[in-house]
Amino acid sequence: MHADSRAPRPGSPGDGYEEFCKRYPAYGSTSIIDDLRAKEFSRLDKHGHVYVDYTGGGLYPESLIRDHAEFLLGAVLGNPHSSNPTSAVSTELVERCRRRVLEFFNASPDEYVPIFAANATQALKLVGESYPFCKGDILLLCFDNHNSVNGIREFDRARGAVTKYVPVMPPDLRILDCVLERYLDESPKICDRLFAYPAQSNFSGVQHPLEWIEKAHEKGWSVLFDAAAFVPTNRLDLSRWHPDYVAVSFYKMFGYPTGVGALIARREALEKLQRPWFAGGTITVASVQADKYFLAQGAQGFEDGTLNYACLPAVERGLDFIDSIGIDTIHTRVISLTGWLIEHMLALTHGNGRPLIRIYGPTDMNMRGGTVAFNVYDGTGASIDHLTVEERANKWNISLRTGCFCNPGAGELALGLSKNDMIQCLDRSGSRMSLSEFRQCIDGKSTGAVRVSLGLVSNFNDVETLLRFLGEFRER
Ligand SMILES: Cc1ncc(COP(=O)(O)O)c(C=O)c1O
Repeated sequence: MHADSRAPRPGSPGDGYEEFCKRYPAYGSTSIIDDLRAKEFSRLDKHGHVYVDYTGGGLYPESLIRDHAEFLLGAVLGNPHSSNPTSAVSTELVERCRRRVLEFFNASPDEYVPIFAANATQALKLVGESYPFCKGDILLLCFDNHNSVNGIREFDRARGAVTKYVPVMPPDLRILDCVLERYLDESPKICDRLFAYPAQSNFSGVQHPLEWIEKAHEKGWSVLFDAAAFVPTNRLDLSRWHPDYVAVSFYKMFGYPTGVGALIARREALEKLQRPWFAGGTITVASVQADKYFLAQGAQGFEDGTLNYACLPAVERGLDFIDSIGIDTIHTRVISLTGWLIEHMLALTHGNGRPLIRIYGPTDMNMRGGTVAFNVYDGTGASIDHLTVEERANKWNISLRTGCFCNPGAGELALGLSKNDMIQCLDRSGSRMSLSEFRQCIDGKSTGAVRVSLGLVSNFNDVETLLRFLGEFRER
């Protein structure tokens, strides 16, 4: 590992820190996070980690694990939904966690109900499989959606409904308001229409306007809001914005527990969903002989089998942890560091003046988060394979991510892969295609990018080490 020799000493910001503080004075107001990093995340600096994959997964504070372990050691928890004493404790903990989730997102319990799921993907699938699509109905997606949203088109297709995609426009990879409006307007009002979009792109970091929720509602659409990449570093106030369905994964916010997410649904919108099956936990009554079942009302009707009840109390603690820092403080920190990172990435040039880095997505900090997708170029202007960049980053103990990050639409448009390129390549194969076969097929064009994403306890040293690592690609 190179990290020990090259990274600045933990706690001592490298060169440029003063300049950074002048350019981003608000960063100073986030110093509580430096203290927390030393106290709660010391494992990062102890092992020389530069963690820049927060959109992949958040990091947990030590106290969350300790407190939760202590709680578990002192509790006797039974499977919920029975009246025995240990079951009653678990049931109350589940309901307490539900109330805490609503409180965190400032959602009224009269309006919203959180349904616990394994992750954001399962939350999205609950909507996809239960939305009452019929022939002629419309599912409107964005090129910028995660595959866990794109997959809903298969439910839609199976029922004879139509899927449409709103494109994002390079180089910023945003959707123009007027283009979205055209798509929202052009579908017949008589059919049922579901619009699904990400609050923040997990590819480019673009934040799509929350105002679209109201716009879509005014035009009669239901709104599925993928907040998985947004909520770790941004405030989502569900008393101000009223999407019908919101999907989140808690490990992206505070690292632990993995395997717990939620669909936060408007009660009225939940009524509209028709579950395709029943399972343990979801019914009030089911009969084998009468071949009938009755679904439970509200969240319970959507929570298949036994919830991760031993971990839900840790979700409450995780939300408390974020509140103890303040989501706006986390946001300010991430935005300041991302602004500096992008400025300095763009300033990296080879000896002949050619740029080293091409960023996909916005290069200013207006309506964007801390996720940056890019490729590295050599002195002739040829792109360096993203897997090579990842291999070299691994040697620096830098955890970044490469590929298309489960967001093929944004990737295809960013990398200039046309519909024809994709059809020719994908139609040539049989029923299976490996990633390396796809890479060969698209030969000559880049099939992916490098992604770094800043989060909860990112600091100036992380960014400086990353910039020094990228500078190593420089040809003098
Ligand atoms: C925008 C977005 N949506 C959905 C998901 C899926 O989340 P999970 O894998 O936790 O289900 C992710 C994960 O990165 C994401 O970034």
